[in-house]
Amino acid sequence: MPLRFLTSGESHGPTLTAILEGMPAGLPLSPDDINPDLARRQGIRRGDPGGRLESRPYIGASPRMKLERDTATLVGGVMAGVTIGAPIALQVQNLDHAKWRGKAVEPMTVPRPGHADLTGAVKYGYSDLRMSLERASARETTARVAVGAVCRKFLAQFGVRVGSYVTEIGGVAAALGEMPLEERIGRALDSEMGCPDEAASLAMHDRVQQIMQDKDTLGGVFEVAALGLPPGLGSHVHWDRRLSGRLAQAMLSIHAMKGVEIGEAFANAKRTGTEVHDEIVLGDRRQTTDDDLAFIAHRSSFIVRKTNRAGGLEGGITTGQPIILRVAMKPISTTLNPLMSVDLATGEPAATEYERSDFCAVPRAGVIGEAMACFVLADALLEKLGGDSLGEMLPRFEALRQMRLEDVPMLNESQVFWP
Ligand SMILES: Cc1cc2nc3c(=O)[nH]c(=O)nc-3n(C[C@H](O)[C@H](O)[C@H](O)COP(=O)(O)O)c2cc1C
Repeated sequence: MPLRFLTSGESHGPTLTAILEGMPAGLPLSPDDINPDLARRQGIRRGDPGGRLESRPYIGASPRMKLERDTATLVGGVMAGVTIGAPIALQVQNLDHAKWRGKAVEPMTVPRPGHADLTGAVKYGYSDLRMSLERASARETTARVAVGAVCRKFLAQFGVRVGSYVTEIGGVAAALGEMPLEERIGRALDSEMGCPDEAASLAMHDRVQQIMQDKDTLGGVFEVAALGLPPGLGSHVHWDRRLSGRLAQAMLSIHAMKGVEIGEAFANAKRTGTEVHDEIVLGDRRQTTDDDLAFIAHRSSFIVRKTNRAGGLEGGITTGQPIILRVAMKPISTTLNPLMSVDLATGEPAATEYERSDFCAVPRAGVIGEAMACFVLADALLEKLGGDSLGEMLPRFEALRQMRLEDVPMLNESQVFWP
């Protein structure tokens, strides 16, 4: 798998760093390609009045989000505004670091249920749980979003778009019906709660306001959609090449994400096979829903699907229809109302202590899901097309788009048999 990345940095350390290796040469890249996604991760909406500095993140976000001004610095892999094929190094400063620098802080010894405090301390032998939480904090996803933005720019060269929207917060669900994916994504960009259904968004706002008064926290569900993908990314031939598994792993690697569904997976589990599977029909490419690549040219016609209950993947390979991932986030584990725990310093029962925290981070989580999806899809596209520069890849992509099924040489024209 040609693309990989590493991140480094702690929540209140000086800097977050990411290195992305395997990005081809020739991609125009500047911080302006990255900063809008970083702003979205902070909970700042498109067109917020006054731009970033005066913007107020949505209700339920930690006050930290008002303090940070996340912007990326490109410190490697880019010259004269284009990638050179070398590892791309990115940095984002933690402004909050200034407040903590040189300050003696009491050790934290009461682990919060639901966080990485206890598991991290047991594994690494920490006596101060801050060593767990500093790296386990979702602040790390700032670096991932920066990497994802580079991958998004790469995918855009091939017409691939990735977006997200919130469908549920604390049991308040959006009613999206047949709303096209592009519209869902566009409306979410303008919505405080990242939700395309205005009425639900207001109800979600109220639900979060209430939970803050109750000194509790909430989770929810968001969907990530990828449009414009060609058929044939990923593979059925080996477990770790299945794109379905790779995308699921990427989603579950995000802090607090505990479930992922591809297409209508859980609803499909209640239906019959003939109710579920997306029939393959000959037709006009215009019949396809939502996207223009969900067709395969064959003889004088097109092979198309009328439905997309599979969520754009069959056999771990893209069908050419939109990929749809539904991701479940658990409620935030730092709660104002304490939970019972054990003080590791005394061995006595103890209540958890509160530190500044999100009450609900679902509206910010979608952009992190997008970033991880962009990375996996860019990796899969690179695998499919090969190449060291964008100039090499673009003609190959065009050839893929023009491909007709009958022109693909078959390995063996005769009947399959086992020797
Ligand atoms: C965008 C985002 C913001 C988060 N903010 C907080 C937070 O303010 N407080 C907190 O306790 N957990 C927060 N979390 C969740 C923790 O990082 C997560 O629960 C913890 O790392 C333990 O990992 P796990 O939940 O995957 O087991 C956040 C997660 C995301 C994705």
